Amino acid sequence: MNIKKICCIGAGYVGGPTMAVIAQKSPDIKVTVVDLNEKRIAAWNDENVENIPIYEPGLSDIVASCRGRNLFFSTEVDKAIDEADMIFISVNTPTKTYGVGKGMAADLKYIELCARQIARVAKNDKIVVEKSTLPVRTASAIKDILDNTGNGVQFQILSNPEFLAEGTAVADLLMPDRVLIGGDTTEEGQNAIQKLVDIYANWVPKERILTTNVWSSELSKLTANAFLAQRVSSINALSELCEKTGADVNEVAKAIGMDSRIGSKFLKSSVGFGGSCFQKDILNLVYIAKSYGLNEVADYWEQVIIMNDHQKRRFGKNIIQTLYNTVSGKKIAFMGWAFKKDTNDTRESAAIYVADDLLSERAEIAVYDPKVQEDQIFYDLDYLESRSADENRRGLTVTNDPYAAADKAHAIAILTEWDEFKTYDWKRIYDNMLKPAFIFDGRNLLDKEALQKIGFVYQGIGS
Ligand code: NAD
Ligand code: UDX
Repeated sequence: MNIKKICCIGAGYVGGPTMAVIAQKSPDIKVTVVDLNEKRIAAWNDENVENIPIYEPGLSDIVASCRGRNLFFSTEVDKAIDEADMIFISVNTPTKTYGVGKGMAADLKYIELCARQIARVAKNDKIVVEKSTLPVRTASAIKDILDNTGNGVQFQILSNPEFLAEGTAVADLLMPDRVLIGGDTTEEGQNAIQKLVDIYANWVPKERILTTNVWSSELSKLTANAFLAQRVSSINALSELCEKTGADVNEVAKAIGMDSRIGSKFLKSSVGFGGSCFQKDILNLVYIAKSYGLNEVADYWEQVIIMNDHQKRRFGKNIIQTLYNTVSGKKIAFMGWAFKKDTNDTRESAAIYVADDLLSERAEIAVYDPKVQEDQIFYDLDYLESRSADENRRGLTVTNDPYAAADKAHAIAILTEWDEFKTYDWKRIYDNMLKPAFIFDGRNLLDKEALQKIGFVYQGIGS
């Protein structure tokens, strides 16, 4: 029997876009995305489709094309589980903030809650798909819970990690490099795999749909993120050496990237990688390696994080040093708060940590980001608990006008590579700043020579 009804638990950055694309490409399947967060579901259902809670280029059009037809957003989790033939678990799996594995292991409490809820509600056989990124061997824990607390129905567990990147989620989903599906090697397992393959085959070429055993699939996701983050930390490590030696990291990246064995992607030096995945997944990988006693393996991967922390810190330190060793009372304009362009997501954004360091030095920060809201920015800062909420609000202001952010500033720091920054009237910005007017370009985004010609003191990363 083909899959007729899908439920996805978790209407976040993965669940929302992924299910929207599945629904659009599979008009015969009813897709219901559920979440405990009522505000988030209300936003997904907002009459004005531009108000959906996640900003991704092209996403609102896809949602508009199938919402109310075969795509539904709801808080009725039990009902959606009960109806579904296939249930995707797409809830968050953050780093643990307490107990054993604190600061490293993935917190699987939301996953376990989902498993227990599915077990309690399910009255017929279901295929349960791990869409969240999970430690290798989590499927056996889910299976254990389902089999031991369920109503005697059969469950098949598949691993189907998501490789989309934020800001390009729609394109990544429509044209994935590959779709990975891991399942049991038994006949039932293979049947379940085939049902999920059939769904993706509605739009993904068959040769791009890769099937493996469950453990390879789970581990491949952590490995992919570790390799990607490692490339960023590698080029960032070299950026510091470039600054000391007169080499230019952009030139070095181009030179090595033209070697087809290395490849040109993910070699952009920056203020440090952010996002909800890289750090969390590498810490998780490190924790797993340690738990098997593989200390050298753990140390190897941990260095990727250590390097990234260093890169974020040294960006702030350089601002302080360059501004004559004090930023106290000086206005610094932050262009960008999101962890990368084309998203409103700020999780682990380098901007948060740079702002935190500069606020500790009593700088006055004015932030402009085209998609991030003020309450999110203060939430991010308050979460660090470095100072009181009042102090954060005294030290940092948020504006929706980039020119106002830069007005009478001593320096501008580019934290996100938003395209619009390139098109600003930089002469006008320069004229309204205090002199010397500094730009610290944490993304190597702007035209260095043009800015220097205007009069700016420009510093990029790695040159
Ligand atoms: P998210 O925080 O945006 O969304 C998760 C949602 O799950 C939240 O809205 C939360 O309210 C909901 N939720 C949690 N427990 C629930 C429960 N018991 N019942 C119903 N809803 C519940 O997270 P995300 O960014 O979508 O990430 C989800 C998973 O996908 C994570 O494991 C992440 O590592 C992985 N992933 C994320 C990305 C990305 O770019 N964000 C990419 C690939 C994989
Ligand atoms: C990442 C993975 O790319 C994706 O496959 C996975 O599913 C989720 O995690 P995401 O975090 O959304 O995606 O964005 P990504 O494009 O990977 O960027 C992560 C961070 O690295 C950003 O802060 C980005 O600015 C930074 N980065 C990326 C660089 O600094 N330089 C680069 O060359 C590439």
